Amino acid sequence: MKTTIDSYKSRAGRLDLEGIDFDDFQDQPLSPDALRSLRYMHDVEHHTVCYLRDLLLTPAHQDPAITSFLSCWVFEEMWHGEAIAAVLAAHGEVAGAPRIEALRRGRRRQEAISALSTIGSAAFAGRAFIALHMAWGAVNEWTTQAGYSRLSERADHPTLRELLKRIMKQEGGHIDFYASEASRRLATSPRAQRLTRFALRHLWRPVGSGVMPKEEVGFLVRYLFDGEDGTAVASRIDRRVDRLPGQSELHLLGTAVSKLSRVRRSA
Ligand SMILES: [Fe+2]
Ligand SMILES: [Fe+2]
Repeated sequence: MKTTIDSYKSRAGRLDLEGIDFDDFQDQPLSPDALRSLRYMHDVEHHTVCYLRDLLLTPAHQDPAITSFLSCWVFEEMWHGEAIAAVLAAHGEVAGAPRIEALRRGRRRQEAISALSTIGSAAFAGRAFIALHMAWGAVNEWTTQAGYSRLSERADHPTLRELLKRIMKQEGGHIDFYASEASRRLATSPRAQRLTRFALRHLWRPVGSGVMPKEEVGFLVRYLFDGEDGTAVASRIDRRVDRLPGQSELHLLGTAVSKLSRVRRSA
């Protein structure tokens, strides 16, 4: 069935935490690397609202279907951040509001404005920007869902696995919307195809690159996408990008993984 904004809106909602016992993490804590990954994911999920602030300054705000989607999407991403905060808190870490407040205070505004919204604010972008925005969102959601899946495998913790399964299901709803809108809009506009191809090729970076320290991006990419299994997942995402109209052979994930895998682990 073709995904529409109406079907997405009817399914969107707060992440279901029924039956997730966060005390399990006190009996069986996660590894330091899994926790480091979760800190990254916590910060990025909670950054969604700032990303939305910038996006609303672009032509995206003119399309009511897009703004309806974004309204529900930002709500769901906030609850993903809250759920991850509960995991971190169960390990005795500062998470949620105090961590986010400190992060936002420490971040310079120009670092927080995404490459995507910079293009969208340019006068030339027009409606073609919305197709780019949808394609960019699809790539980010494919990557995010794959990242959670890889973390679930690597951490091998029953409670985390169940929590991430529920988060991934909602990321799947985001993928359906972004990817179907991107395909539909790109298919009818050679100009949108060219703008999207240019932006993805030259400006796309893994989710969180604009707001997280470089060593943390390098760590996450190495932890989740290094090795045979990780490479296979990255290649699968690249093949999905290939199927978007006019976006074949960009090798976004393959390139990012080989580049960021070389970033040295911080002390
Ligand atoms: Fe999310
Ligand atoms: Fe998402």
